[in-house]
Amino acid sequence: MKDINAEHPAAQPAPMDMFSRTISYLRLSLTDRCNLKCMYCVTEDEKNGCLVKLGQDELLTYEELLRVVRVSVGMGISKLRLTGGEPLVRNNIMHFIRHLAEIEGLDDIRITTNGVLLEKYAQGLFDAGVTKVNISLDTLQRDRFAEITGVDCFDRVWKGIETALEVGFSPVKLNMVVMRDINDDELPAFAELSRKMPLQIRFIEFMPIGTSTRWTRDTYMSSDEIKARFGALGELIPQEKQQADGPASVFKLGADAGGSLGFISPISHHFCDRCNRLRLTSEGRLRSCLLHDEETDLKSVLRAGCSDADIRETLLTAIRNKPKGHQMAERLKEDGGDCHGRMSRIGG
Ligand code: 5AD
Repeated sequence: MKDINAEHPAAQPAPMDMFSRTISYLRLSLTDRCNLKCMYCVTEDEKNGCLVKLGQDELLTYEELLRVVRVSVGMGISKLRLTGGEPLVRNNIMHFIRHLAEIEGLDDIRITTNGVLLEKYAQGLFDAGVTKVNISLDTLQRDRFAEITGVDCFDRVWKGIETALEVGFSPVKLNMVVMRDINDDELPAFAELSRKMPLQIRFIEFMPIGTSTRWTRDTYMSSDEIKARFGALGELIPQEKQQADGPASVFKLGADAGGSLGFISPISHHFCDRCNRLRLTSEGRLRSCLLHDEETDLKSVLRAGCSDADIRETLLTAIRNKPKGHQMAERLKEDGGDCHGRMSRIGG
């Protein structure tokens, strides 16, 4: 593993967009495939077998991905998150990650996973230098897990979480998408977990993305409402903002809690003015805002025999076109539509 404290003489200041936001964070969706079929990602029809997946040649190859990351890091992007679909289902994933970890100047590689394969991969990921993990977990109940995800494997995911803690990942974050009348009755149980275990449990507002057929105004709960549910459980003590918190505002439930609670409010208190992200979808398209469908086709550029300067120029175009913000809250008030990108291709 490379020395992550080493100086990088060639490090560039990260690029800036038209609104003076520094873009230092790239999210790579490695595949649209997933070993779960969560109710907010997949429709009932798709669950029953009609899910169209990208062909192998539609995904960027590992060589192409490594090249894009090298150019991005050369431009000053220093933080990377691997997403999917489920990133750990892509073939030879560890081989790719080990190469990624060798890129000079890339000091921060994180992963978002559903945890199903984490028991198997946690040690290897950690040894390769991926030391921060987010695990999507919307319920602590085995039967409900099977209902929400379509697969009865809560115990495997739980084992994955325990393994991540054992091998030394820090932080280990759990992402819970809060959905009224689906899992909101478990908010106290998740909060309790944050007292007992060194986990950061993050409550994410349910967003109307793509085929998320279960999204309605009624299933959506704002962070303020979610937070209010904890009033009776104890004192919420605000924590000083850490770089690893991302857009979450973080609290401890009582001073002696082993873990913490994070609230992420993409709709009700959006953080567009601080957004430092660029996304590369599993189809090889650059997406500069999760909630805007505009994308820049990087794959065609890569496959037309481009130079590194061309890749750089395409990245800069996507950064220049990054919208000032999304108006999802306003659009929803006016009965406006959701966004059409597929979460499993964008990577969250
Ligand atoms: N709204 C909010 N969060 C979502 N995620 C997936 N779909 C949605 C949605 N519609 C979450 C996943 C994952 C994270 C990247 O985004 O559970 O943890």
